[in-house]
Amino acid sequence: MCGIVGYIGGGNVYDVLIKGLHRLEYRGYDSAGIALVTPSGTLNVYKAMGKVSNLENFCKDKNLDALAGIAHTRWATHGEPSDCNAHPHYSEDGNLALVHNGTIENYKLLKDALTQHGCRFHSETDTEVLVQLIEYIKVKNNCSLLDAVRESLKQVVGAYAIAVVEKDHPNRIIAARKSSPLVIGIGEDEMFLASDATPFVEYTKECVYLKDEEVAIIERGEPLKLVTLENKEAKIDVTTLELSISQLEKGGYPHFMLKEIFEQTSTLKDCIRGRVVNGGKRIIISGVDDNKEKFLSAKRIVIVACGTSWHAALLGKYLIQDMCRIPVEVEYASEFRYSNPVLDDRDIVMAISQSGETADTLAAIKIAKSMGAFVYGISNVVGSSIPRETDSGTYIHVGPEIGVASTKAFTGQVMVLTMVAAAIAQLKGTMTQEEIAEIGKAIHKIPSLVGKVLGLNSKIERLSLIYTYARNFLYLGRGYSYPVALEGALKLKEISYIHAEGYPAAEMKHGPIASLIYTYARNFLYLGRGYSYPVALEGALKLKEISYIHAEGYPAAEMKHGPIALIDAEMPSVIIAPNDHLYEKIVNNVQQVKARGGSIIAIVTEGDTTIRNIADHVLEVPEVPEALSPIITSIPLQLLSYYIAINKGKNVDMPRNLAKSVTVE
Ligand code: F6R
Repeated sequence: MCGIVGYIGGGNVYDVLIKGLHRLEYRGYDSAGIALVTPSGTLNVYKAMGKVSNLENFCKDKNLDALAGIAHTRWATHGEPSDCNAHPHYSEDGNLALVHNGTIENYKLLKDALTQHGCRFHSETDTEVLVQLIEYIKVKNNCSLLDAVRESLKQVVGAYAIAVVEKDHPNRIIAARKSSPLVIGIGEDEMFLASDATPFVEYTKECVYLKDEEVAIIERGEPLKLVTLENKEAKIDVTTLELSISQLEKGGYPHFMLKEIFEQTSTLKDCIRGRVVNGGKRIIISGVDDNKEKFLSAKRIVIVACGTSWHAALLGKYLIQDMCRIPVEVEYASEFRYSNPVLDDRDIVMAISQSGETADTLAAIKIAKSMGAFVYGISNVVGSSIPRETDSGTYIHVGPEIGVASTKAFTGQVMVLTMVAAAIAQLKGTMTQEEIAEIGKAIHKIPSLVGKVLGLNSKIERLSLIYTYARNFLYLGRGYSYPVALEGALKLKEISYIHAEGYPAAEMKHGPIASLIYTYARNFLYLGRGYSYPVALEGALKLKEISYIHAEGYPAAEMKHGPIALIDAEMPSVIIAPNDHLYEKIVNNVQQVKARGGSIIAIVTEGDTTIRNIADHVLEVPEVPEALSPIITSIPLQLLSYYIAINKGKNVDMPRNLAKSVTVE
């Protein structure tokens, strides 16, 4: 979602800002822009639809001299993606330029009032309303920019992270935040500003995370100053980043997504490190250990999250109920926040979020806290809003996830939930010492088993070809023409990525017709039971997000109550069927799909013979305790969607319309 970068210092302002925008591209955006304050006191704003590279092209013949600057990637909310709606926005007199993340809910009211005072608007955005308001107050009150920003923000309802520059003060940036992230990097004689630390980590590791309703005065040659909206000085807490620049690069992989899938052997090790000790006999989760009373007296746990994190939450429910015998409810954060929830101080609300910035999850946390619940966060981004808003929590420690489609964060979340559940079980005595040791030992083995699962990579890459295309080709010939058919099919495959098969014409009736039918797939069904049901949901989400093929995840047994009507040879089902306590049941579901002519890709445990004889394709994964199976079974699904999307020529790291950090409602 939208990204902000700002810079003041001795470096080349334009270069730092553009590089910073590239670092923020992973968040998802549709246009980009930059505002530069020149030494001669002019304020130049350049904007372009589409990629940051378009902006760079646009800027080629422009004046790029600057003492300070702000820049932005926009993910459209108010008004379509266009040059005009892109940020920064000028104030009416051209003295100010502003970039903004978040949404201003009362923008219409403010816009009407400003229009009555003679303001004219050039874009459809809520952001332009804010910059006009700041200018209006500055002129009306004859006050400084800082005071005008503070006064304006008091009138704003909604979420904002903003940065403003002023023509007459080329050595200063004013910034502020509420419910939308903003972090200031402090270098030697230079300061940075960004939505997250990625744009400046190569220049400095020292940073300050702005808190809600704080305003920053970033001035050349002056130390950073923070004030509240009431103009009271605020404390500056400097944090040292653990992020390294190599974590933000592809490291030889063609895409961040593939790199992140393959990193899971090491990210899971990092996630487990120091938490499963004494050869697996003891689980140490400090967030649980430090809040023993809360977990011992909890009458219920409600888990709130969105998207992939919601799938992890669903697994959290199974894990916690199984291991700790505490009832668990799982809610979409966006539904929970408006559902008039019933909570009290004996409830624990767990919030799961990779980015730690998801607006709906943050809102759910605020509601839970206001009702007295103890709130526990599970997040990846150190210093992000969710860990700061929650009473306690656990980081998943999987390193920055740049690919928009979540992969290593999902397995990290599930691993943390497994360890949290085991730690609560240890505390409550709902698992014996032997059972804890068994799960602890199995947890230690997971990273190397994940490495083994990744060995399926080339098989899945090949398999993906069959399932990628909505159209395929059959090349038929007899006699001398048969090899010509084979060669024709090969050429088509090689350069167009369209699945094609060459066949002796008379052989066709003995098989290929049936096997080719499912290459017409426009839809996929993902089925699972128990722990594998959320994995099915997550598998379907991955395929949708990056390949744009419609896919639906379903509890396998629910299928007969409706979705079974969809099954025919053109509707492949991906069935997650490891050897668990529901295995016999899911074999029935596999049979039901086969009986209706459906084609099946099954994820099974090594050595499986029953499903192997029914399914069209099987992907074998190592045997692990049932509770840990989602981490193992979800990885082949990540690879399958990756390759299908690649075959279709899609941008897997930045799928259309999606944003990495969803900071708007
Ligand atoms: C899917 C994906 C999204 C996020 C969702 C919540 O691959 O990444 O569905 O899971 O937007 O984001 P976080 O976890 O940052 O709260």
